Amino acid sequence: MLDKIKELISEAEQYKAESLQDLEDFRIKHLSKKGSLAQLFEDFKVISNDKKKEVGQALNELKQAIQSKIDILKDELGTSAESSSISDLTLSAESLPLGSRHPISIVRNEILEIFSRLGFTVSEGPEIEDDWHVFTSLNFPPEHPARDMQDTFFIEKNPDILLRTHTSSIQVRVMEHTKPPIRTVSPGRVFRNEAISARAHCIFHQVEGLYIDENVSFADLKQTLLYFAKEMFGESTQIRLRPSYFPFTEPSAEMDVSCALCGGKGCNVCKYTGWLEVLGCGMVDPAVLENNNIDSKKYTGFAFGMGIERLAMLKFQIRDLRLYFENDARFLRQFSGAI
Ligand code: PHE
Repeated sequence: MLDKIKELISEAEQYKAESLQDLEDFRIKHLSKKGSLAQLFEDFKVISNDKKKEVGQALNELKQAIQSKIDILKDELGTSAESSSISDLTLSAESLPLGSRHPISIVRNEILEIFSRLGFTVSEGPEIEDDWHVFTSLNFPPEHPARDMQDTFFIEKNPDILLRTHTSSIQVRVMEHTKPPIRTVSPGRVFRNEAISARAHCIFHQVEGLYIDENVSFADLKQTLLYFAKEMFGESTQIRLRPSYFPFTEPSAEMDVSCALCGGKGCNVCKYTGWLEVLGCGMVDPAVLENNNIDSKKYTGFAFGMGIERLAMLKFQIRDLRLYFENDARFLRQFSGAI
């Protein structure tokens, strides 16, 4: 009998109720007229006198354990039932959870805003393009190896219809129907046939810029990009231009910014160089101007292009590019404070 009582005590101590109804069943099972406790008190009457003291104490302990368990659970379930019902009609409504902007949108908006302060308009264009707008008018002759720099997804061959590999195609469309001065930035999604990894994706986003007017020089390009870098990464940011090659610009350069994380001293983000590569740029090749019926004797221009994913990685210290496309709410929610 003693063992049975001890077993019931530990059962009572571990008991958990889901609802008030559960708890009532528990009470009936143990404390009602035909419950376990009544039965035990019945048995208690017939045990030998020498065991009465010990068993009596154990029985009282069991009764208390059951009763206090019921009291505690009643309290808990009672208050949670209360709080889920409308008890105070003057309370203000619970706020609706607000979504957050995608980090790519946040950074794109910031880039566009910085250039709009310098008088750049925003232009957009189609993602499915023809060969002329993506390559030929931009001075990529047929069979030119530079076409391999951007592994292309073709939709149709002869005549070629393809997914744009850069948003420079938008700028060709602007040049087609606008007379200089032209000052525009072109954001958009671009496609390249690359293996997906932490550092590369077959879909990404760019903002490219184009400025064409009389007497536009490399110094203008440098100042524009320096202004952009300071606005984007902070006032103390420095830039450095390294010679590079693009078919549509001459001379061409790659721009690095000083690493904002270590201030140029060297860290694992800048791979201990103190510099981060952020964009390609150069003076528009006269052949490109002529292809678009702009007099290259009268006008000069500069162009630049950057990947938004890369800038967002640097700005928010995102280490894997694939996160942008997975739509994991735990990742996206982290940007709810940003505009
Ligand atoms: N279109 C180039 C690219 O996608 C970037 C670029 C734009 C470079 C303008 C120079 C001038 O890689």
